Amino acid sequence: MARGPSCVDPLMPGCYIAIVSRLSRKAPDLHTLNLFLSEAQIQEGVERLAGQVQADYEGRPLLVVGVLRGAFVFMADLVRRLRLSLTVDFVRLASYGASTTSSGRVRLIHGVRSPLRGRAVLVVEDIVDTGLTTSFLLSYLQERGAASVRICALLDKPACRRVQVSLDYVGFTAPDRFLVGYGLDFDQRYRELPAVYALEDGS
Ligand code: PRP
Repeated sequence: MARGPSCVDPLMPGCYIAIVSRLSRKAPDLHTLNLFLSEAQIQEGVERLAGQVQADYEGRPLLVVGVLRGAFVFMADLVRRLRLSLTVDFVRLASYGASTTSSGRVRLIHGVRSPLRGRAVLVVEDIVDTGLTTSFLLSYLQERGAASVRICALLDKPACRRVQVSLDYVGFTAPDRFLVGYGLDFDQRYRELPAVYALEDGS
């Protein structure tokens, strides 16, 4: 029998969601997700970040570059709070595949299509973990002539850094746990969840 999510109450600390495979003939695919940030906490964080970006770029044209796929939800919420002369573009990078740890190799799947020379660029990331993706992207944008590049990350995991990167706007500092929801995935799942959860070890 096909079953959907059970015990869903994302605003209750410590609650869990048990997702059971929709394919009843497969072994049950059960993950335990512990709430890390509620929808309300995320939206407060996005509001705060938007205020900082707004103040810094007031009166200046801005190119906002989202890093697909993970940043798509955060970027949509962030840009709708900005009252700036802005355009948007995207890059698609990947380094995790179906694993919970970085392969250490960042792959460029889709580059920015907008002209970059002389532009003020704001990179929007869902999470900075090892820093490899951000470091790769900074070089990519600078080599193509961006006048300035700042990084806005909803989540920062400083304990996991493998390369030093400087983040200009950070929503929340996160522990060394694998996080999903609000754009973040595990093997392409859970991006649609409106809150952020930690995947329980061994679940
Ligand atoms: C995730 C996330 C960041 C990156 C951060 O992307 O969206 O872009 O990892 O990790 P790092 O600091 O260790 O490089 P992922 O490669 O999983 O692709 P996705 O955005 O399509 O999920």
